[in-house]
Amino acid sequence: MIFTNQHIISANQFSHESLQILFQQADTLQKKLLQHGILSILADKVMATLFYEPSTRTRLSFEAAMNRLGGRVISTSHAKQYSSVTKGESLTDTIRTVQQYADVIVLRHTDKGAAEQAASVSTIPILNAGDGEGEHPTQALLDTYTILQETNTLDNLKIAVIGDLKYGRTVHSLAQLVNLFHNELFFVSPENLRIPDWIKSKITIPYTQTDNLAEIIPLVDVLYVTRIQKERFTDEREYEKCKGIYKITPDLLSAAKEKLVIMHPLPRVDEISPLVDSDPRAAYFRQVKNGMLIRMALLTLVFGKKL
Ligand code: NCD
Repeated sequence: MIFTNQHIISANQFSHESLQILFQQADTLQKKLLQHGILSILADKVMATLFYEPSTRTRLSFEAAMNRLGGRVISTSHAKQYSSVTKGESLTDTIRTVQQYADVIVLRHTDKGAAEQAASVSTIPILNAGDGEGEHPTQALLDTYTILQETNTLDNLKIAVIGDLKYGRTVHSLAQLVNLFHNELFFVSPENLRIPDWIKSKITIPYTQTDNLAEIIPLVDVLYVTRIQKERFTDEREYEKCKGIYKITPDLLSAAKEKLVIMHPLPRVDEISPLVDSDPRAAYFRQVKNGMLIRMALLTLVFGKKL
């Protein structure tokens, strides 16, 4: 993929080569950041963040990334309540408006397919920061970068993704990226939260589906834990059935590999006991740090500034 002026909608846009370019850019930016806390690479650019759903990390890391690159940020963080959407404006009209003010739009929306719809009318790049139960490609990029940082490889890994695989958009994107390499996937979820067919149909590496977490813990190199996506359930009873179903505890981890990498896109509710936080294998806060760096890399490349 050539990054310049691209919309980033799905993980399926990425190849080995484009991941390598992105990760190299992130490494270079990290060195530059150590020398100068704020750079000026995007000093002539404005980024708009348009968020129709709650966010802490994704929005702040995009905004921190743009600030660290010397660019400017305009933002509506509660677009559903506070933008003209409440007056009945369509997403496409909103995009046609925001593109008059900014050079790139970071969009988080409640509906699967919203980023694609926005891209279809936008003259400036749309970066998908999560479209409902669809995808979250920039999270998957930082997750893949974290796996590489933690294990020194992206190949021959046994990777378990755990929890809400039906609604969890980060998993939908991550599965497609690890599928680019010679890995093995373990989809661990209760019956009613299995990985959807539209993702399974894209997976060409070996995979196993199970609801038995204890059984796969000793086998895997990466444990990617996710939150049950309460807000996506239409039937409260369905949520009650699977709430709190998996919990990573020190006890459970005693059977795991010494070099296991424990990840979580966050926010966590009760899927990982806080007692695990001091385990050196817990990578989820290092993962957070990589978020800003990967988003800096992506923004610079989208503006054609390869370092
Ligand atoms: C995730 C999301 O919004 O999909 N959060 C994030 O961006 N890091 C995961 C979640 O909300 O559970």
